[in-house]
Amino acid sequence: MSDINFKDYIRVIPDFPQPGIRFKDITTLLKDGAVYRAAIEDMRKAIEHLQIDIIAGPEARGFVIGAPLATALGVGFAPIRKSGKLPGETIQASYDLEYGNDSLAMHKDAISPGQRVLIADDLLATGGTIATSMNLVRQLGGEVVGAAFLIELSYLTGREKLEGVEVFSLVTY
Ligand code: PRP
Ligand code: MG
Repeated sequence: MSDINFKDYIRVIPDFPQPGIRFKDITTLLKDGAVYRAAIEDMRKAIEHLQIDIIAGPEARGFVIGAPLATALGVGFAPIRKSGKLPGETIQASYDLEYGNDSLAMHKDAISPGQRVLIADDLLATGGTIATSMNLVRQLGGEVVGAAFLIELSYLTGREKLEGVEVFSLVTY
């Protein structure tokens, strides 16, 4: 594991997008190539023992974590998209966010039954996004063996939605 303090590279912006929300802005981490690479590498080391077949990640910020993590591990990546974006046959599930709500979709052939799946995202907050992502993967017959996040907001207790799944968070607030 690197000795970088990743929190030093995450910018906290008060009252965005609503009053009272302290937004964790990862763009300040992503723009530093060495730090971004170290973050992905530390996440890879933390999850490699899970023998993952494929990583699934919800748009948009889940792509900037899940896709490089997949290439680092040498496995495929299955995008979880907001409804209406995927061109093929999909399944869908709705969810609530820390602020607002939306619905997520996956291609029906994104995951093969029995595949060992890790879900990756930038942030675990209320857990609504990850719970919906797990729901979609399980509907497709995937086995959710792990979840990996750049950031976990532990005071929002999203982790409670991940019972039975190994969870790794690089940084916790
Ligand atoms: C943010 C973040 C996580 C989710 C975490 O995504 O990227 O996916 O919220 O919140 P939760 O644990 O309460 O569900 P958002 O829906 O804002 O969209 P984005 O990734 O497209 O910016
Ligand atoms: Mg997101």
